[in-house]
Amino acid sequence: MENIIKDIDILSPEEAQATDYKTTEEVNTGKQKKLYIESYGCQMNFSDSEIVASIMKDNGYDTTSDFEQADVIFLNTCSIRDKAEQTIRKRLSQFNTLKKNRPELTVGVLGCMAERLKEKLLDEEKIVDVVVGPDAYRDLPNLVTGAEFGNKGVNTFLSREETYADIAPVRLNSNGVNAMISIMRGCDNMCSFCVVPFTRGRERSRDPHSIVSEARDLFAQGYREVMLLGQNVDSYKWSPEENNKARLSKKEDEVSEVVHFHHLLEMVAEISPLLRVRFSTSHPKDITDEVLYTIKKYDNICKYIHLPVQSGNSRILELMNRTYDRDWYLERVSKIREILGEECGISSDMITGFCSETENEHQDTLTLMDIVKYDFSYMFFYSERPGTLAAKKFEDDIPLEVKKRRLAEIIEKQSQLSYERNKLDLGKIQEILIEGKSKRSNEQLKGKNSANKVVIIPDGPYQKGDYVMVKITDCSPATLFGEVVS
Ligand code: SAH
Ligand code: SF4
Ligand code: F3S
Repeated sequence: MENIIKDIDILSPEEAQATDYKTTEEVNTGKQKKLYIESYGCQMNFSDSEIVASIMKDNGYDTTSDFEQADVIFLNTCSIRDKAEQTIRKRLSQFNTLKKNRPELTVGVLGCMAERLKEKLLDEEKIVDVVVGPDAYRDLPNLVTGAEFGNKGVNTFLSREETYADIAPVRLNSNGVNAMISIMRGCDNMCSFCVVPFTRGRERSRDPHSIVSEARDLFAQGYREVMLLGQNVDSYKWSPEENNKARLSKKEDEVSEVVHFHHLLEMVAEISPLLRVRFSTSHPKDITDEVLYTIKKYDNICKYIHLPVQSGNSRILELMNRTYDRDWYLERVSKIREILGEECGISSDMITGFCSETENEHQDTLTLMDIVKYDFSYMFFYSERPGTLAAKKFEDDIPLEVKKRRLAEIIEKQSQLSYERNKLDLGKIQEILIEGKSKRSNEQLKGKNSANKVVIIPDGPYQKGDYVMVKITDCSPATLFGEVVS
């Protein structure tokens, strides 16, 4: 499964953790100072780093890919599992010598770990100068200036409104084809195992105009795929009454109705049939028939849904506070198959060894996987997070070896299912969006089909951003291989 995760070229929360971190690329616009950012965790963090780079750029910083050249180092961190936090602490210790040699260097911890640990981080990690939570990035230049004068600073204020709608992200690590657009922030779901509601605050949706205009600009610049991002994109809701109050003048294209996720999908899909639209992550409770019919209606909305189940057992789902049970989830999957057909990609997240999970309950996860036949999944063993409902109410009583053995079993199952699903594509002709050279060979190109699968084709007279029709000729559990037919 490790291979599967590495082969998939999307930055899902989990994949991002599997690949550790991404650094900034060199963006040189002749500014005086240099910023180096490493991003960990989920796509929201990667997207936030682009906002941070933009805020810093307006305050005199270009980005660099070499931390030795940097005046400021930011780690945009994740708290989702204990291991994620351990990774950051190790990374901070690696910067110790650098900081000793150059005391004027500013080191900042941003993101979810900053939000969770606040001032404590300054006490525990002496190297850190600024600690800034996900809703306080506008304050970064100010805090960094403070640090330059020797004043350490913390801002972990969580907002009910901040969406950074007016900030044009600096596209970091971009291939010029795919871009992320964050459409909402925060999470109100309170799954009992999860730290995100505490680190990201309350749910709020971004003004649809600013989303559509960002997507339009990206298309004009040559981008061909946008990923609409949020912790629960399908609970996106923007109401003009709530949001127009603060506005003095009415904009030309003002929306007068409440905008739900399926409306927003439609608005972005209408920009151009050549602009592919994806979204992540959807909570099963909000994946309505309207969303499914909208996906069906537009060829350029990708036929792929990431629909994390977490467990296949209803008692465990209840303890997890997921608000659906096994049957309800399976009904949603049947509806996806009915409306979008067998070819629609479905993927999941799963947790093994949640508090009190029995062997039989673990078997329910395996049987559910067999029924749904996921194309791929991101799988974890349960890691207790301080302050969460589960940490307060339940005992983390499944021994680590058992959690890990159950995890190995679902990974094995998923590997078989991924292969089975990929084999169904053999002989089919699919539209592929080319993203560039394949990682393995310069004589191959890499693209994706609508169902989010990586497709490798021989090099030819095509460029990244082109659409080509490809006949699928071979596959592995992680990848499809094909030849261009037109
Ligand atoms: N908002 C997304 C999930 C974001 S976190 C959603 O609900 O779909 C990404 C994944 O990390 C979760 O789906 C879950 O499978 C996993 N995860 C979250 N908390 C965890 C924990 N305490 N231990 C292990 N895995 C966890
Ligand atoms: Fe966490 Fe649940 Fe919110 Fe996802 S929906 S971020 S798992 S609380
Ligand atoms: Fe991690 Fe925060 Fe994302 S905890 S998964 S970086 S929302």
